[in-house]
Amino acid sequence: MMMKTIKQIIFYCLSPLLLQAQVIAKDGQLLAPTPPMGWMSWNFFAEKINEKEVKEIADAMVSSGMVKAGYNYIFIDDCWQGGRDNKNNIIADPVKFPSGIKALADYLHQRGMKLGIYSDAAQLTCAGYTASLGFEEQDAKTFASWDIDYLKYDYCHAPEDVETAKARYKKMADALRKSGRDIVLGICEWGPRKPWLWGAAVGGQLWRTTYDIRDKWKMRSNETWGDGILNILDINAQLHEYAGPGHWNDADMLITGLYGKKGPSGDGGGTGCTDTEYQSQFSLWAMMNSPLYASNDIRNMNAATKNILLNEEVIALNQDALGKQAIRKMHSDTMDVFVKPLANGDVALAVLNRSDAAQQFHISFAALGLAGRYQISDLWKHKIIGQSNKWKGRVESHETKLFRLKKLDNDKRRK
Ligand code: GLA
Repeated sequence: MMMKTIKQIIFYCLSPLLLQAQVIAKDGQLLAPTPPMGWMSWNFFAEKINEKEVKEIADAMVSSGMVKAGYNYIFIDDCWQGGRDNKNNIIADPVKFPSGIKALADYLHQRGMKLGIYSDAAQLTCAGYTASLGFEEQDAKTFASWDIDYLKYDYCHAPEDVETAKARYKKMADALRKSGRDIVLGICEWGPRKPWLWGAAVGGQLWRTTYDIRDKWKMRSNETWGDGILNILDINAQLHEYAGPGHWNDADMLITGLYGKKGPSGDGGGTGCTDTEYQSQFSLWAMMNSPLYASNDIRNMNAATKNILLNEEVIALNQDALGKQAIRKMHSDTMDVFVKPLANGDVALAVLNRSDAAQQFHISFAALGLAGRYQISDLWKHKIIGQSNKWKGRVESHETKLFRLKKLDNDKRRK
């Protein structure tokens, strides 16, 4: 056990802006070398989470092809807890999880999946359940004994200052490292303390950059809270320099397929989105290297939802080994253009129409810093659409076009 712990060396590398600490897993690889992918229970089930339905979702993740496409985590969010036993060990609610969390982890591991769980850096979680403050090492050991692979660590009921947040997250990160198991730590303090500046240094592999996403395109003029896709995009897009292998900006759950039907994502004006908007969120979250956590009912997905979540060419951008978050090269009230370099030398290009009407766009690649001519593949049409040094075309309201550009050989030679 000791040797295993020692092997989990924390090493430092200088990024242009900050000292990043990255955690090495037992296999010698980075922990979370690419953004985690899976399904998170909160948006749809909230407090109604239970073992039977999680297993049904897991089965559906396998049968629908989600696991094969890379969504290999089930993240149990808040409301699983049943307090502590007489030795202060945290326990699952015996009614919701009669077989216990370890049995659930076994069930998932047998199916090629992993299990994430949730706690909070205070005495109570956001929904008022038992949390981990003061029990960090004990809870980390319990999670390790259940074969947990990921911890989402929330920050409700905790002090506002940044130093306390850093200390509390470090304490849990250290406890996880000491637990003897590789457990990814997802920091969830929603952005007010700028976790992108310190999240990796205290031992986290990703950090939420915003408050909770709601099932809507954007906050409406009469609303004072409830972030939609565009609100979150505008925060997360500015943080590209803080992301990289083993340390990711987390733009919160995918709302694809929720259609305003159920759960907390319906609060604060979350009345649902169109498939075009869900497709945009997926495209942009993939470009920004956000973790991809579906939160819809995987057991009942329509064709449009499957078409979005299972687009392997888009997933490949998110999981690309280079781990570069897309840079927003153009931004106005009506359009965004993102560029993302890829490991094989290709470049991904996203063109978002932010306005409420269809628009005709004319994008010169040179204006984005991309010299020369490229073969252009449309990742939503699944086909090569031409060879050029520009793209022009119609983009529907709230639509995101997504292209993979491959530099043409004769251009490479001329260089
Ligand atoms: C906070 C988090 C959400 C979810 C809930 C659970 O609001 O930001 O993602 O985990 O708590 O109570």
